[in-house]
Amino acid sequence: MSSRLQAEHLYKVFGRRPDDAVERIRKGADREELREDGVTAAVIDASFSVAPGEIFVVMGLSGSGKSTLLRMLNGLLEPTSGRVSFDGRDLTALDDRELREVRARKISMVFQHFALFPHRSVRENAAYGLEVQGVPRAERERRADEALALCGLAGWESSWPDELSGGMQQRVGLARALATDADLLLMDESFSALDPLIRRDMQDQLLELQKTLKKTIVFITHDLNEAMRLGDRIAVMRDGRIVQTGTAEDILLRPADDYVASFTKDVDRSRVLTAESVMDTEVRGDEADCGCETADPATPFTQLCALSARLSHPVAVVAGGEGEGGERRLVGVVPRQRLVGFLGGRPGTEGGEPVPCDRPGDARGEKVISRA
Ligand SMILES: Nc1ncnc2c1ncn2[C@@H]1O[C@H](COP(=O)(O)OP(=O)(O)OP(=O)(O)O)[C@@H](O)[C@H]1O
Ligand SMILES: [Mg+2]
Repeated sequence: MSSRLQAEHLYKVFGRRPDDAVERIRKGADREELREDGVTAAVIDASFSVAPGEIFVVMGLSGSGKSTLLRMLNGLLEPTSGRVSFDGRDLTALDDRELREVRARKISMVFQHFALFPHRSVRENAAYGLEVQGVPRAERERRADEALALCGLAGWESSWPDELSGGMQQRVGLARALATDADLLLMDESFSALDPLIRRDMQDQLLELQKTLKKTIVFITHDLNEAMRLGDRIAVMRDGRIVQTGTAEDILLRPADDYVASFTKDVDRSRVLTAESVMDTEVRGDEADCGCETADPATPFTQLCALSARLSHPVAVVAGGEGEGGERRLVGVVPRQRLVGFLGGRPGTEGGEPVPCDRPGDARGEKVISRA
Protein backbone atom coordinates (compact mmCIF):
# COMPACT_ATOMS: atom_id res chain seq x y z
CA MET A 1 0.00 0.00 0.00
CA SER A 2 1.40 3.39 -0.89
CA SER A 3 1.21 5.76 2.03
CA ARG A 4 0.82 9.48 2.44
CA LEU A 5 1.37 9.53 6.10
CA GLN A 6 3.26 7.11 8.20
CA ALA A 7 3.82 6.82 11.93
CA GLU A 8 6.60 4.54 13.06
CA HIS A 9 6.93 3.54 16.69
CA LEU A 10 5.78 6.88 18.01
CA TYR A 11 6.12 7.64 21.70
CA LYS A 12 5.17 10.78 23.56
CA VAL A 13 6.01 11.08 27.21
CA PHE A 14 5.18 14.14 29.32
CA GLY A 15 7.19 14.76 32.46
CA ARG A 16 10.76 14.46 33.63
CA ARG A 17 13.39 12.52 31.67
CA PRO A 18 11.07 11.33 28.92
CA ASP A 19 13.76 9.31 27.15
CA ASP A 20 14.36 7.23 30.25
CA ALA A 21 10.64 6.64 30.49
CA VAL A 22 10.54 5.34 26.92
CA GLU A 23 13.37 2.94 27.78
CA ARG A 24 11.50 1.76 30.84
CA ILE A 25 8.36 1.14 28.79
CA ARG A 26 10.33 -0.80 26.22
CA LYS A 27 11.62 -2.96 29.05
CA GLY A 28 8.10 -3.64 30.21
CA ALA A 29 7.20 -0.89 32.67
CA ASP A 30 3.53 -0.02 32.47
CA ARG A 31 1.82 3.32 32.34
CA GLU A 32 0.69 3.21 35.97
CA GLU A 33 4.20 2.71 37.30
CA LEU A 34 5.34 5.77 35.40
CA ARG A 35 2.42 7.79 36.58
CA GLU A 36 3.44 7.18 40.16
CA ASP A 37 6.63 9.02 39.27
CA GLY A 38 4.66 11.90 37.79
CA VAL A 39 5.36 10.90 34.21
CA THR A 40 2.58 10.46 31.61
CA ALA A 41 3.13 8.11 28.70
CA ALA A 42 0.49 9.63 26.44
CA VAL A 43 1.35 7.65 23.30
CA ILE A 44 3.18 4.35 23.36
CA ASP A 45 4.69 2.68 20.31
CA ALA A 46 2.08 3.78 17.77
CA SER A 47 2.64 2.66 14.18
CA PHE A 48 0.34 2.90 11.18
CA SER A 49 0.23 4.24 7.68
CA VAL A 50 -2.54 6.11 5.95
CA ALA A 51 -3.09 5.67 2.21
CA PRO A 52 -3.87 8.56 -0.15
CA GLY A 53 -7.60 9.28 -0.11
CA GLU A 54 -8.19 7.17 2.95
CA ILE A 55 -10.21 8.14 6.02
CA PHE A 56 -8.26 6.73 8.94
CA VAL A 57 -10.09 6.97 12.24
CA VAL A 58 -8.45 6.90 15.65
CA MET A 59 -10.95 5.86 18.29
CA GLY A 60 -10.48 5.71 22.04
CA LEU A 61 -11.75 6.94 25.37
CA SER A 62 -10.86 10.26 26.91
CA GLY A 63 -7.20 10.32 27.91
CA SER A 64 -6.20 7.44 25.65
CA GLY A 65 -3.76 9.67 23.74
CA LYS A 66 -5.66 10.55 20.56
CA SER A 67 -5.02 14.28 20.49
CA THR A 68 -1.40 13.82 21.44
CA LEU A 69 -0.99 11.39 18.56
CA LEU A 70 -2.66 13.79 16.15
CA ARG A 71 -0.45 16.69 17.23
CA MET A 72 2.63 14.62 16.47
CA LEU A 73 1.28 13.96 12.98
CA ASN A 74 1.41 17.62 12.05
CA GLY A 75 4.54 18.44 13.99
CA LEU A 76 2.85 20.52 16.71
CA LEU A 77 4.36 18.10 19.19
CA GLU A 78 7.72 16.48 18.77
CA PRO A 79 7.71 12.74 19.39
CA THR A 80 9.82 11.57 22.33
CA SER A 81 10.80 8.71 20.07
CA GLY A 82 9.77 7.46 16.64
CA ARG A 83 9.16 9.00 13.28
CA VAL A 84 6.39 10.63 11.26
CA SER A 85 6.74 10.78 7.51
CA PHE A 86 4.52 12.69 5.17
CA ASP A 87 4.87 12.06 1.43
CA GLY A 88 8.11 10.30 2.22
CA ARG A 89 9.60 13.27 4.11
CA ASP A 90 10.57 12.81 7.70
CA LEU A 91 8.54 15.49 9.53
CA THR A 92 10.57 15.03 12.67
CA ALA A 93 13.71 16.11 10.78
CA LEU A 94 12.33 19.37 9.34
CA ASP A 95 13.44 22.68 10.79
CA ASP A 96 10.87 25.15 12.14
CA ARG A 97 10.52 27.09 8.93
CA GLU A 98 10.01 23.97 6.79
CA LEU A 99 7.55 22.63 9.30
CA ARG A 100 5.52 25.85 9.30
CA GLU A 101 5.44 25.71 5.52
CA VAL A 102 4.15 22.12 5.49
CA ARG A 103 1.55 22.98 8.13
CA ALA A 104 0.35 26.03 6.24
CA ARG A 105 0.05 24.40 2.84
CA LYS A 106 -0.30 20.68 3.17
CA ILE A 107 -2.06 19.97 6.42
CA SER A 108 -5.30 21.37 7.84
CA MET A 109 -6.67 20.81 11.30
CA VAL A 110 -10.34 20.90 12.28
CA PHE A 111 -10.96 20.97 16.02
CA GLN A 112 -13.88 20.08 18.23
CA HIS A 113 -14.77 23.65 19.07
CA PHE A 114 -13.82 25.58 16.08
CA ALA A 115 -13.00 29.10 17.19
CA LEU A 116 -14.30 31.49 14.58
CA PHE A 117 -13.28 35.14 14.67
CA PRO A 118 -16.44 36.91 15.83
CA HIS A 119 -15.70 40.20 14.03
CA ARG A 120 -15.01 38.64 10.69
CA SER A 121 -17.65 37.51 8.24
CA VAL A 122 -18.20 33.85 7.48
CA ARG A 123 -16.30 34.37 4.22
CA GLU A 124 -13.32 35.95 5.96
CA ASN A 125 -13.31 33.17 8.49
CA ALA A 126 -13.30 30.51 5.77
CA ALA A 127 -10.53 32.38 3.96
CA TYR A 128 -8.32 32.64 7.02
CA GLY A 129 -5.96 29.79 6.12
CA LEU A 130 -5.39 31.33 2.71
CA GLU A 131 -4.75 34.72 4.26
CA VAL A 132 -2.02 33.14 6.37
CA GLN A 133 -0.55 31.72 3.15
CA GLY A 134 -0.54 35.20 1.61
CA VAL A 135 -3.07 34.44 -1.13
CA PRO A 136 -4.42 37.70 -2.65
CA ARG A 137 -7.85 38.82 -1.46
CA ALA A 138 -9.88 38.21 -4.62
CA GLU A 139 -8.59 34.66 -4.99
CA ARG A 140 -8.96 33.75 -1.35
CA GLU A 141 -12.54 35.01 -1.32
CA ARG A 142 -13.38 33.01 -4.40
CA ARG A 143 -11.89 29.86 -2.91
CA ALA A 144 -13.53 30.48 0.46
CA ASP A 145 -16.92 30.86 -1.25
CA GLU A 146 -16.38 27.61 -3.13
CA ALA A 147 -15.49 25.78 0.06
CA LEU A 148 -18.49 27.26 1.87
CA ALA A 149 -20.75 26.09 -0.93
CA LEU A 150 -19.29 22.58 -0.66
CA CYS A 151 -20.16 22.64 3.02
CA GLY A 152 -23.74 23.72 2.36
CA LEU A 153 -23.25 27.34 3.39
CA ALA A 154 -23.86 29.15 0.11
CA GLY A 155 -25.74 32.36 0.87
CA TRP A 156 -24.18 32.79 4.33
CA GLU A 157 -20.86 34.23 3.18
CA SER A 158 -21.53 37.74 4.46
CA SER A 159 -23.12 36.69 7.74
CA TRP A 160 -21.42 36.98 11.13
CA PRO A 161 -20.51 33.84 13.05
CA ASP A 162 -23.02 34.53 15.83
CA GLU A 163 -25.82 34.44 13.26
CA LEU A 164 -25.02 30.77 12.62
CA SER A 165 -26.02 27.70 14.61
CA GLY A 166 -23.31 25.56 16.24
CA GLY A 167 -23.48 23.05 13.41
CA MET A 168 -23.13 25.75 10.80
CA GLN A 169 -20.17 27.26 12.62
CA GLN A 170 -18.53 23.86 12.63
CA ARG A 171 -19.08 23.71 8.89
CA VAL A 172 -17.30 27.04 8.53
CA GLY A 173 -14.38 25.32 10.29
CA LEU A 174 -14.51 22.52 7.77
CA ALA A 175 -14.75 25.02 4.91
CA ARG A 176 -11.66 26.80 6.23
CA ALA A 177 -9.77 23.51 6.11
CA LEU A 178 -11.02 22.68 2.62
CA ALA A 179 -10.34 26.13 1.19
CA THR A 180 -6.60 25.81 1.69
CA ASP A 181 -6.31 22.87 -0.70
CA ALA A 182 -4.32 21.05 1.94
CA ASP A 183 -4.88 17.44 1.14
CA LEU A 184 -4.18 16.05 4.57
CA LEU A 185 -7.00 16.84 6.98
CA LEU A 186 -6.56 16.17 10.67
CA MET A 187 -9.89 16.25 12.44
CA ASP A 188 -9.95 16.10 16.23
CA GLU A 189 -13.44 15.28 17.51
CA SER A 190 -14.67 17.71 14.91
CA PHE A 191 -18.29 16.64 15.20
CA SER A 192 -18.43 15.67 18.86
CA ALA A 193 -19.95 18.89 20.14
CA LEU A 194 -22.88 18.71 17.73
CA ASP A 195 -26.25 17.26 18.55
CA PRO A 196 -26.93 13.81 17.09
CA LEU A 197 -28.94 14.76 14.00
CA ILE A 198 -26.59 17.50 12.92
CA ARG A 199 -23.70 15.21 13.64
CA ARG A 200 -25.13 12.56 11.32
CA ASP A 201 -25.62 15.25 8.74
CA MET A 202 -21.99 16.36 9.02
CA GLN A 203 -20.78 12.79 8.71
CA ASP A 204 -22.85 12.35 5.56
CA GLN A 205 -21.53 15.60 4.20
CA LEU A 206 -17.94 14.63 4.86
CA LEU A 207 -18.43 11.27 3.12
CA GLU A 208 -20.10 13.01 0.20
CA LEU A 209 -17.29 15.58 -0.10
CA GLN A 210 -14.72 12.85 0.16
CA LYS A 211 -16.12 11.13 -2.95
CA THR A 212 -14.91 14.01 -5.07
CA LEU A 213 -12.15 15.63 -3.00
CA LYS A 214 -10.37 12.42 -2.00
CA LYS A 215 -8.41 14.03 0.80
CA THR A 216 -6.33 11.98 3.15
CA ILE A 217 -8.05 12.27 6.50
CA VAL A 218 -7.15 11.31 10.03
CA PHE A 219 -10.32 11.61 12.07
CA ILE A 220 -10.41 11.33 15.84
CA THR A 221 -13.46 10.30 17.79
CA HIS A 222 -14.46 8.55 20.99
CA ASP A 223 -17.59 7.18 19.33
CA LEU A 224 -17.29 3.80 17.65
CA ASN A 225 -20.48 4.30 15.64
CA GLU A 226 -18.98 7.44 14.15
CA ALA A 227 -15.70 5.63 13.59
CA MET A 228 -17.45 2.87 11.71
CA ARG A 229 -19.52 5.21 9.60
CA LEU A 230 -16.55 7.25 8.49
CA GLY A 231 -13.47 5.10 8.67
CA ASP A 232 -11.98 3.09 5.87
CA ARG A 233 -9.85 1.77 8.69
CA ILE A 234 -10.00 2.33 12.41
CA ALA A 235 -7.26 2.29 15.02
CA VAL A 236 -8.52 1.64 18.53
CA MET A 237 -6.43 3.25 21.29
CA ARG A 238 -6.28 2.26 24.90
CA ASP A 239 -4.03 3.83 27.51
CA GLY A 240 -1.70 5.28 24.90
CA ARG A 241 -1.41 2.17 22.77
CA ILE A 242 -3.09 1.20 19.54
CA VAL A 243 -4.65 -2.13 20.41
CA GLN A 244 -6.21 -2.90 17.03
CA THR A 245 -6.18 -1.48 13.51
CA GLY A 246 -8.68 -2.75 10.99
CA THR A 247 -11.81 -2.15 8.98
CA ALA A 248 -15.14 -1.65 10.74
CA GLU A 249 -15.91 -5.22 9.91
CA ASP A 250 -12.64 -6.52 11.39
CA ILE A 251 -13.33 -4.69 14.61
CA LEU A 252 -16.90 -5.87 14.80
CA LEU A 253 -16.37 -9.48 13.84
CA ARG A 254 -12.80 -10.05 14.94
CA PRO A 255 -12.10 -7.79 17.93
CA ALA A 256 -8.50 -8.16 19.08
CA ASP A 257 -9.45 -8.48 22.73
CA ASP A 258 -12.27 -8.12 25.24
CA TYR A 259 -11.65 -4.41 25.52
CA VAL A 260 -12.33 -3.81 21.83
CA ALA A 261 -15.25 -6.24 21.93
CA SER A 262 -16.82 -4.26 24.77
CA PHE A 263 -17.03 -1.21 22.52
CA THR A 264 -18.79 -3.10 19.76
CA LYS A 265 -21.80 -3.90 21.94
CA ASP A 266 -23.42 -0.55 21.20
CA VAL A 267 -22.68 -0.53 17.51
CA ASP A 268 -25.42 -0.66 14.94
CA ARG A 269 -24.16 -3.76 13.19
CA SER A 270 -26.66 -3.55 10.37
CA ARG A 271 -24.84 -0.51 9.04
CA VAL A 272 -21.47 -2.20 8.90
CA LEU A 273 -22.11 -5.74 7.81
CA THR A 274 -22.46 -6.90 4.22
CA ALA A 275 -23.47 -10.18 2.61
CA GLU A 276 -19.81 -11.12 2.44
CA SER A 277 -19.33 -10.70 6.16
CA VAL A 278 -22.29 -12.83 7.17
CA MET A 279 -22.50 -15.51 4.49
CA ASP A 280 -21.81 -19.16 5.09
CA THR A 281 -18.97 -20.07 2.74
CA GLU A 282 -19.27 -23.82 3.22
CA VAL A 283 -21.59 -23.75 0.24
CA ARG A 284 -19.99 -22.45 -2.89
CA GLY A 285 -19.85 -23.39 -6.53
CA ASP A 286 -18.63 -22.43 -9.97
CA GLU A 287 -21.96 -21.46 -11.37
CA ALA A 288 -24.79 -19.67 -9.78
CA ASP A 289 -27.88 -20.14 -11.80
CA CYS A 290 -30.66 -20.53 -9.34
CA GLY A 291 -32.98 -18.33 -11.38
CA CYS A 292 -33.99 -16.36 -8.31
CA GLU A 293 -32.88 -13.07 -6.79
CA THR A 294 -29.38 -13.15 -5.42
CA ALA A 295 -27.14 -10.84 -3.42
CA ASP A 296 -23.62 -9.85 -4.26
CA PRO A 297 -20.86 -9.81 -1.66
CA ALA A 298 -21.16 -6.05 -1.10
CA THR A 299 -24.93 -6.06 -0.55
CA PRO A 300 -25.56 -4.14 2.70
CA PHE A 301 -27.04 -6.00 5.61
CA THR A 302 -30.37 -4.19 5.61
CA GLN A 303 -30.93 -4.98 1.94
CA LEU A 304 -30.00 -8.55 2.61
CA CYS A 305 -32.67 -8.74 5.31
CA ALA A 306 -35.27 -7.38 2.93
CA LEU A 307 -34.27 -9.89 0.27
CA SER A 308 -34.27 -12.71 2.77
CA ALA A 309 -37.78 -11.79 3.86
CA ARG A 310 -39.02 -12.07 0.26
CA LEU A 311 -37.48 -15.46 -0.38
CA SER A 312 -38.57 -18.74 1.07
CA HIS A 313 -35.04 -20.11 0.91
CA PRO A 314 -31.59 -18.86 1.91
CA VAL A 315 -30.14 -16.00 -0.08
CA ALA A 316 -27.44 -17.02 -2.54
CA VAL A 317 -24.44 -14.70 -2.63
CA VAL A 318 -23.04 -14.49 -6.11
CA ALA A 319 -19.80 -12.87 -7.27
CA GLY A 320 -18.29 -12.13 -10.67
CA GLY A 321 -20.23 -11.68 -13.88
CA GLU A 322 -20.96 -8.34 -15.48
CA GLY A 323 -18.11 -5.90 -15.55
CA GLU A 324 -15.83 -8.17 -13.58
CA GLY A 325 -15.24 -10.66 -16.36
CA GLY A 326 -15.44 -14.34 -15.61
CA GLU A 327 -18.29 -16.50 -14.54
CA ARG A 328 -20.81 -15.74 -11.89
CA ARG A 329 -19.94 -17.92 -8.95
CA LEU A 330 -21.84 -18.86 -5.87
CA VAL A 331 -19.59 -17.72 -3.02
CA GLY A 332 -21.85 -18.40 -0.09
CA VAL A 333 -25.38 -18.55 1.25
CA VAL A 334 -27.20 -16.72 3.98
CA PRO A 335 -29.96 -18.60 5.74
CA ARG A 336 -32.38 -16.18 7.38
CA GLN A 337 -31.52 -17.35 10.85
CA ARG A 338 -27.93 -16.43 10.34
CA LEU A 339 -28.89 -12.78 9.95
CA VAL A 340 -30.39 -12.77 13.40
CA GLY A 341 -27.23 -14.25 14.86
CA PHE A 342 -25.07 -11.51 13.38
CA LEU A 343 -27.25 -8.78 14.79
CA GLY A 344 -26.50 -10.13 18.22
CA GLY A 345 -29.91 -11.71 18.73
CA ARG A 346 -30.28 -15.24 19.97
CA PRO A 347 -30.09 -17.73 17.10
CA GLY A 348 -33.06 -19.89 16.39
CA THR A 349 -35.65 -17.61 17.94
CA GLU A 350 -36.86 -16.10 14.76
CA GLY A 351 -39.62 -18.65 14.06
CA GLY A 352 -41.07 -18.81 10.59
CA GLU A 353 -41.79 -21.52 8.11
CA PRO A 354 -39.42 -24.33 7.21
CA VAL A 355 -37.19 -23.43 4.33
CA PRO A 356 -37.34 -25.59 1.24
CA CYS A 357 -33.86 -26.22 0.04
CA ASP A 358 -31.86 -28.57 -2.03
CA ARG A 359 -28.36 -27.39 -1.40
CA PRO A 360 -26.16 -28.86 1.27
CA GLY A 361 -25.61 -26.39 4.07
CA ASP A 362 -28.94 -24.72 3.55
CA ALA A 363 -30.36 -26.59 6.45
CA ARG A 364 -31.48 -24.55 9.36
CA GLY A 365 -30.20 -25.01 12.87
CA GLU A 366 -26.59 -24.52 11.86
CA LYS A 367 -24.24 -22.93 14.29
CA VAL A 368 -24.66 -19.20 14.28
CA ILE A 369 -21.67 -17.02 14.92
CA SER A 370 -22.45 -14.44 17.50
CA ARG A 371 -20.18 -12.45 19.70
CA ALA A 372 -22.58 -10.12 21.36
N1 LIG B 1 0.89 18.93 27.53
C1 LIG B 1 0.68 17.91 28.35
N2 LIG B 1 1.37 17.79 29.49
C2 LIG B 1 1.17 16.75 30.34
N3 LIG B 1 0.30 15.76 30.11
C3 LIG B 1 -0.42 15.80 28.97
C4 LIG B 1 -0.27 16.88 28.03
N4 LIG B 1 -1.11 16.66 27.00
C5 LIG B 1 -1.76 15.51 27.29
N5 LIG B 1 -1.35 14.99 28.46
C6 LIG B 1 -1.79 13.73 29.07
O1 LIG B 1 -1.65 12.72 28.10
C7 LIG B 1 -2.75 11.80 28.14
C8 LIG B 1 -3.41 11.72 26.79
O2 LIG B 1 -4.05 12.95 26.52
P1 LIG B 1 -4.78 13.29 25.15
O3 LIG B 1 -5.24 14.67 25.21
O4 LIG B 1 -3.90 12.90 24.03
O5 LIG B 1 -6.01 12.28 25.22
P2 LIG B 1 -7.29 12.19 24.29
O6 LIG B 1 -7.42 10.76 23.91
O7 LIG B 1 -7.23 13.18 23.22
O8 LIG B 1 -8.45 12.55 25.31
P3 LIG B 1 -9.84 13.36 25.05
O9 LIG B 1 -10.78 12.38 24.41
O10 LIG B 1 -10.26 13.71 26.43
O11 LIG B 1 -9.54 14.54 24.19
C9 LIG B 1 -3.65 12.30 29.26
O12 LIG B 1 -3.35 11.57 30.41
C10 LIG B 1 -3.27 13.75 29.41
O13 LIG B 1 -3.46 14.17 30.73
MG1 LIG C 1 -8.39 14.87 22.67
